[in-house]
Amino acid sequence: MHYQFPADFWWGSASSAPQTEGASLQFGKSETIWDRWFAESPTRFHRQVGPAHTSGFYQHWREDIALLKQLRHNTFRTSIAWSRLIPDGRGAVNPEAVRFYNQVIDEMLSQGITPFINLFHFDMPMAMQQIGGWENREVVEAYAQYAQTCFRLFGDRVKHWFTFNEPIVPVEGGYLYDFHYPCVVDFRRAATVAFHTMLAHARAVQLFREGEYAGEIGIILNLTPSYPRSTHPADQQAAHIADLFFNRSFLDPALLGHYPAELVALLEEHQQLPVSQPGDSALLAEGRVDVLGVNYYQPRRVKCRDALVNPHSPFMPEWFFDHYAMPGRKMNPYRGWEIYEKGIYDILSNLRQHYGNPRCFISENGMGVEDEQRFEQNGQIQDDYRIDFVREHLIWLHRALQEGSHCLGYHMWTFIDNWSWSNAYKNRYGFVQLDLDSQQRRVKKSGEWFARVASERGFTQ
Ligand code: BG6
Repeated sequence: MHYQFPADFWWGSASSAPQTEGASLQFGKSETIWDRWFAESPTRFHRQVGPAHTSGFYQHWREDIALLKQLRHNTFRTSIAWSRLIPDGRGAVNPEAVRFYNQVIDEMLSQGITPFINLFHFDMPMAMQQIGGWENREVVEAYAQYAQTCFRLFGDRVKHWFTFNEPIVPVEGGYLYDFHYPCVVDFRRAATVAFHTMLAHARAVQLFREGEYAGEIGIILNLTPSYPRSTHPADQQAAHIADLFFNRSFLDPALLGHYPAELVALLEEHQQLPVSQPGDSALLAEGRVDVLGVNYYQPRRVKCRDALVNPHSPFMPEWFFDHYAMPGRKMNPYRGWEIYEKGIYDILSNLRQHYGNPRCFISENGMGVEDEQRFEQNGQIQDDYRIDFVREHLIWLHRALQEGSHCLGYHMWTFIDNWSWSNAYKNRYGFVQLDLDSQQRRVKKSGEWFARVASERGFTQ
């Protein structure tokens, strides 16, 4: 069967400034929470490799953009580092940063690659964290001013803006499950962080529209379709609540401009609602996006709780469901994540049926593999598993398109093996292999395959 995609489909990959640039405390850039966490607790990072060890995009940008072209990308996402552009979080702009991002944007355009620019990829400047990070409403306005600075500096050339990548991850990691700085475990503080992040998003969207910049603005959400163990009503309800917490808490405000009433009522009942101010609802309503990026890696499988909740235990989403390891599910044995390709179709169908079929695209999807050099033959990583992974997801995406989904493209995570937070280089995701010591780049088999698919806008299977 042949799978043909639209002529103007976006083929590309995604990355982020903090994971690729390097030069982490150089050329005027200030510390982020990652530099600080690594300095304080290096053992929390895989093999104690910290944020300074990247693929060095700050030096290798021209070479990397040439590789993107070789991989036949027509689009590419990276981010601007707030801590590089405005080292104190607010106030003076760093001219070195403006020069760097101008070069990158101009080079991409001259190579026929449309830049997609994200403004925040987990990299809170330490100057902002010191005053409370997203818990402090002042940071909402500081972020909005930073966003506006980006629109003014680069908006003449950048036409695809994204306010946040996976805004739920700093909430979960930093304030609920202890895998990001500042390692707090407190639901109410997490809810405040989530709420203020969405206010910051909405303020940036508002300023983008007031400034009448050309192009579009969106947000990138990691969606994890929530599947119940069975058709039993208690399992169904468990999946429904997990969906409210982990998907709709960001999806509804981004697409509908308000939170799900049921989630608000539930948090109110348990005294977990963040403090709001008059005008917040109106602001949120202005944050409805032009385009939605969907990151999809794995589904969430849940069942009703086996045991009653201890009412004295701290409030957590897991009060309402248990995680469920479905027997026979297909796993990525290296990353420990389930591979469920149909999830991509289910997400797109849900957007079509329940959210008015918004303009959207798959903004991340990918397969992390440990010790990938094992698969090297004749100087090239033979990552057939990654080819299968991408192909199977594209087949489901194609089916959603046939049924009318407004999905505009597919971006892989990621272009080149990159540093990934506390996992550092544990999981390799790239189309291009990175030798960390020599900084040498070598295209993997999957990169060659993707280049063919992108240039033919499809494949036969
Ligand atoms: C995505 C993030 O969720 O997952 C990326 O947007 C991250 O920043 C990627 O690198 C892979 O994560 P990990 O933990 O498997 O290396």
